[in-house]
Amino acid sequence: MKRKVLVTGGLGFIGSHTVVCLNEAGYEPVIIDNLNNSRLEVLDALETLVGYRPTFEQIDVLDSEKLNALIQREGVEAVIHFAAHKAVGESVEKPLMYYRNNVCGLIFLLEVLKANGLNNLVFSSSCTVYGEPKEIPVREGTETQPAASPYGATKQMGEVILRDNSWCNVQCLRYFNPVGAHESALIGELPLGVPNNLIPFLTQTVAGIRKQLTVYGGDYDTADGTCIRDYIHVMDLAEAHVASIDRLFAKANGTITHYGKEGVLGFDNSTDNFEIFNIGTGNGFSVLEVIHAFERVNGEKIPHVIGDRRAGDVVAVWADTKKVNEVLGWKAKRDLDTMMRDAWNWQKRC
Ligand code: WQD
Repeated sequence: MKRKVLVTGGLGFIGSHTVVCLNEAGYEPVIIDNLNNSRLEVLDALETLVGYRPTFEQIDVLDSEKLNALIQREGVEAVIHFAAHKAVGESVEKPLMYYRNNVCGLIFLLEVLKANGLNNLVFSSSCTVYGEPKEIPVREGTETQPAASPYGATKQMGEVILRDNSWCNVQCLRYFNPVGAHESALIGELPLGVPNNLIPFLTQTVAGIRKQLTVYGGDYDTADGTCIRDYIHVMDLAEAHVASIDRLFAKANGTITHYGKEGVLGFDNSTDNFEIFNIGTGNGFSVLEVIHAFERVNGEKIPHVIGDRRAGDVVAVWADTKKVNEVLGWKAKRDLDTMMRDAWNWQKRC
């Protein structure tokens, strides 16, 4: 009998890729999604990729009654919580929508999990919890600064809520910048409306859907004046979630006894049941470096201009990956060229 893992937001960008990897690892993904930022066609693509139609129900995590019924019916043993809004720029314009969906959504989910005695959770956190970091690369123990955006604040609050609910065994995965697509190009990033994120806007510009790409700021204190991020292939990120689920079950059955405690690993203020991992590549690239990599790899020019800075952006952030490499036993495998190639292959199929 396969162990069932509930994937909230499972038809979204990272969620859909994680569903593929969970299946490959021998788990049975159970998907909920409110289809606010995804499409039902993603389920058709997942059926092609995994060879069966995964269990799916259109449920919003704020709908506790429906969620409770699904959890009781399906007998899931762990949850990966992706369902949240995630655009830094958009969160500055619509803070209330972000706090309601991201913070209340987590609280409502936790209430249902607790009521059903379900206490294994992988939380989709973010490098944005570091704010404008005082040190880069950032370690899991790097002191967090005030969030630069409401989105980052919702993730900081999510971590506090989870740390204080010590009945729940949490793997807190701080993502950096997920980009790219599955090698089949059957699933990828599917922003509805005008993309907030760099790569989908970039690929839509090359595809002629957008007129030109605006680089938000060319006067930052970096080598070429543009912001630096740790771009990570979405498949690497998805594989990290499987490693994290494996760890949760290993801890639950006692095959892992020493973890997280300050002094045991000396990395950060993780606890037995709240473990933090940076899920990045450890490499930082500027916006212009990404543009040039895309143009070189795909042989396509990107019409772009340098424009004003975007509110909510930090100048530079990339990951120190020592802990996740050593403790979770996971390391990103795919390079920036692969990310750019897969992103373009996906866009060409859209
Ligand atoms: C990247 C860089 C922009 C669009 C993302 C996710 C967030 C979190 C962290 C997981 C910035 C610049 C962008 C454009 C541009 N990941 N840019 N022109 O803001 O780092 O956040 O990663 O939790 O969920 O959203 O990503 O792609 O929006 O921006 O110049 O049209 O590209 O200024 O420097 P960001 P992004």
